[in-house]
Amino acid sequence: MVAQRGRPWIRCVLLLCLAIQFALFAAAETFFKPFNVSYDHRALIIDGKRRMLISAGIHYPRATPEMWPDLIAKSKEGGADVIQTYAFWSGHEPKRGQYNFEGRYDIVKFANLVGASGLYLHLRIGPYVCAEWNFGGFPVWLRDIPGIVFRTDNAPFKEEMQRFVKKMVDLMREEKLFSWQGGPIIMLQIENEYGNIESSFGQKGKEYVKWAAEMALALGAGVPWVMCKQVDAPGSLIDACNGYYCDGYRPNSYNKPTLWTEDWDGWYASWGGRLPHRPVEDLAFAVARFYQRGGSFQNYYMYFGGTNFGRTSGGPFYITSYDYDAPIDEYGLLSDPKWGHLKDLHAAIKLCEPALVAADSPHYIKLGPKQEAHVYRIKTHHEGLNITWYGTQISCSAFLANIDEHKAASVTFLGQKYNLPPWSVSILPDCRNVVFNTAKVGAQTTIKSVEFDLPLYSGISTRQQLITKNEDLFITKSWMTVKEPISVWSENNFTVQGILEHLNVTKDLSDYLWHITRIFVSDEDISFWEESKISPAVAIDSMRDVLRVFVNGQLTGSVIGHWVKVEQPVKFLKGYNDLVLLSQTVGLQNYGAFLERDGAGFRGQVKLTGFKNGDIDLTKLLWTYQVGLKGEFLKIYTIEENEKADWAELSLDAFPSTFTWYKTYFDNPAGTDPVALDLGSMGKGQAWVNGHHIGRYWTLVAPKHGCQEICDYRGAYNSDKCSTNCGKPTQTWYHIPRSWLQASSNLLVILEETGGNPFEISIKLRATRVICAQVSESHYPPVQKWLDPDFIDGKIAVNDLRPEMHLQCQDGMMITSIEFASYGTPQGSCQSFARGNCHAANSLSIVSEGCLGKNSCSIGISNLIFGSDPCRGVIKRLAVEARCGSLPNAGFSQF
Ligand SMILES: *[C@@H]1O[C@H](CO)[C@@H](O)[C@H](O)[C@H]1NC(C)=O
Ligand SMILES: *[C@@H]1O[C@H](CO)[C@@H](O)[C@H](O)[C@H]1NC(C)=O
Ligand SMILES: *[C@@H]1O[C@H](CO)[C@@H](O)[C@H](O)[C@H]1NC(C)=O
Ligand SMILES: *[C@@H]1O[C@H](CO)[C@@H](O)[C@H](O)[C@H]1NC(C)=O
Repeated sequence: MVAQRGRPWIRCVLLLCLAIQFALFAAAETFFKPFNVSYDHRALIIDGKRRMLISAGIHYPRATPEMWPDLIAKSKEGGADVIQTYAFWSGHEPKRGQYNFEGRYDIVKFANLVGASGLYLHLRIGPYVCAEWNFGGFPVWLRDIPGIVFRTDNAPFKEEMQRFVKKMVDLMREEKLFSWQGGPIIMLQIENEYGNIESSFGQKGKEYVKWAAEMALALGAGVPWVMCKQVDAPGSLIDACNGYYCDGYRPNSYNKPTLWTEDWDGWYASWGGRLPHRPVEDLAFAVARFYQRGGSFQNYYMYFGGTNFGRTSGGPFYITSYDYDAPIDEYGLLSDPKWGHLKDLHAAIKLCEPALVAADSPHYIKLGPKQEAHVYRIKTHHEGLNITWYGTQISCSAFLANIDEHKAASVTFLGQKYNLPPWSVSILPDCRNVVFNTAKVGAQTTIKSVEFDLPLYSGISTRQQLITKNEDLFITKSWMTVKEPISVWSENNFTVQGILEHLNVTKDLSDYLWHITRIFVSDEDISFWEESKISPAVAIDSMRDVLRVFVNGQLTGSVIGHWVKVEQPVKFLKGYNDLVLLSQTVGLQNYGAFLERDGAGFRGQVKLTGFKNGDIDLTKLLWTYQVGLKGEFLKIYTIEENEKADWAELSLDAFPSTFTWYKTYFDNPAGTDPVALDLGSMGKGQAWVNGHHIGRYWTLVAPKHGCQEICDYRGAYNSDKCSTNCGKPTQTWYHIPRSWLQASSNLLVILEETGGNPFEISIKLRATRVICAQVSESHYPPVQKWLDPDFIDGKIAVNDLRPEMHLQCQDGMMITSIEFASYGTPQGSCQSFARGNCHAANSLSIVSEGCLGKNSCSIGISNLIFGSDPCRGVIKRLAVEARCGSLPNAGFSQF
């Protein structure tokens, strides 16, 4: 725990909040009237009714409990009905039999927050979860159980798996979290994508699937279970689809509904890799196609990706950010237009829900070579439903798809003409009016910017700039430093002959394993090297993830890779030389069969080559082993223990320096914008704030090529399409959750392996001050308008509905200025808009009048709004760039 140094009144306010929160939870025994969940071939049946469900994937440990309420609220506002998460075994049972349900692992609190917001929960227990999480979510102690083989018909594994799955189901039942108890949980999952590796286990794999299903059902959870990517899911377990597209998917029995447990709306990134992006037009197309062709439950993997705090990221080599290009970004901010366009899509699908659930299957109509319609009709015997929508009863909803990757198409459907952009779906809740097309984005764009930049070391000039920005900030003037020993540092060292398996020694308590030995070099070796120009080298058959070779205390080489061969030249002196091999993991393997055998470190021959008398077999030598770093085990990154190290002031000329610890203190920047640490000046290492491990960092640079200037949404997506960040470090910003910060003197500790410049580290704020939108006369009216009471009452006619631009500042901010507005033919894109030949002179004043000082505003896109037609016969559009900010005296709202 971090000592609270807040002023007394702040603590009182906090206590009051806690008391209110506690009262709310105490009062809310159940969140729903108890209801049962079952299913038929068409959909999940919730409390007796078929439902079309939108689910938002959020992994609780990838955020802080303080972030959870906002993430859940933003999911609900975006149109989600369900939150989906894995359960993270390694976090819940760090030592066998010792459970942890605290802090980021307080899954009960997370489930309660989901229920309290009126959303359902899909809990995927696994317990193998993949998830780009360390060791796929398995605790590393699991591999030490004698005779264990993971994920197959193996008694020791099944015993451990059953114990954990039962623990989770029992916990959920005790906390009354299942639907039939009035809780949010409507569905569970056992195993995870086992179908991908099942064949590695032969018959035993098939037995295991049967066992897992029966074991799960016998726990009496009382809600359906899914197995994703499992074509042979037995009995009542529903086999579900994961992928970029799932509209062709059919479960293995006619009695099961079509569920999409993972809609990959982006992708994860690796150190030294590009950043993947999935265009929202294609994502919306995939989702609309899924519901068009009979799907009934779709989950965004991820809706919020978050952060792999600590050493939780999987591997090898997955970065600390798990942003995933999700609709809510790593910092909890909306990623627009992705979030907004999907929100509109969800509203359109919800308008169709009455017809979608009433029909047992769609009626298919071929409209063209690559164009098709699926029509859902409410049959007469369903008339009891009696859904009315703008005065007429909804009896028919339709989806019109153009799967042509290149060309738009004009089609005729039920006697009317429709224009379908390429690779798009139009949604017609009444089989007549298009309310949404997946390729026409009307939602605003939010630009994420650095609003503020606090260098942690201030030269005089930056200090002046800072004082003008924020007078209250305490600027640190120094960095303290201490070296990590390149040798044994504890009583826990031991010496044995040979090379041990890395994980067998570290038990993954640290990334680092030191191997230390001495090599004798004779006069003959030295002359041999001088004469032959041969240099000695460390040669290893196979190695993962990082190897650092030190000779006589100096770092002489590093090798990076996943089971790669090592040939690292070294230079020895005459006589005894200290040879240190530092083996490092960068996220344990999280995918594949036989994870328990994968291990880390070295495999095969480990030799010194190039000696006069032949190679030296290093596996025959005595090696001294030391797990981890001294600073890591002394916990010098915590407020309580950091004085245990002999910190000395860092002088300006002391860097770069390998295996060095740095510390400094900084103040919490005012306001509520998310905080990031910019480590772009550093090499590789780990960072902690007030004892919280914010993750590994690494400034590996992505390849120069392979990024697209213009991202074409058309055609099937893969993670290499539309990637960005070529030639730049994959990650330089690291999220520091606000709740980990106190008002002042926050302790920042950094372990640097290769030598960077700590004087250039800075604190940044992730701001969403700039919003833009561009909507044309030919856009569809806002989907939400169709639910407007005036419209339903018939006071507004269909033909009176107009396209609108909707602008909204995030997190309660106000529109403080309009930087650009043009109704006509504006050119360019956000932050580079320019007037075209056609421009209504009053554009700026109309938009200013409608939007300034407001959190959100809507402007109609028509000549009526702008007084006259600035250019006849031309399709006009409105482009706006606005700035958001807090109103003065809005108060101190950090909590
Ligand atoms: C749910 O199903 C169980 C078993 O069929 C039944 O006893 C119970 O009354 C049902 N609960 C509700 C709320 O329908
Ligand atoms: C359905 O609505 C119509 C009017 O649109 C009404 O006459 C009829 O009684 C309603 N039926 C039911 C079952 O509510
Ligand atoms: C390493 O281990 C040996 C044997 O246990 C012990 O004597 C020695 O003090 C240890 N080294 C350090 C630096 O603690
Ligand atoms: C790891 O340790 C176990 C038991 O201590 C041993 O059986 C196994 O062979 C070791 N693994 C490797 C790869 O050395």
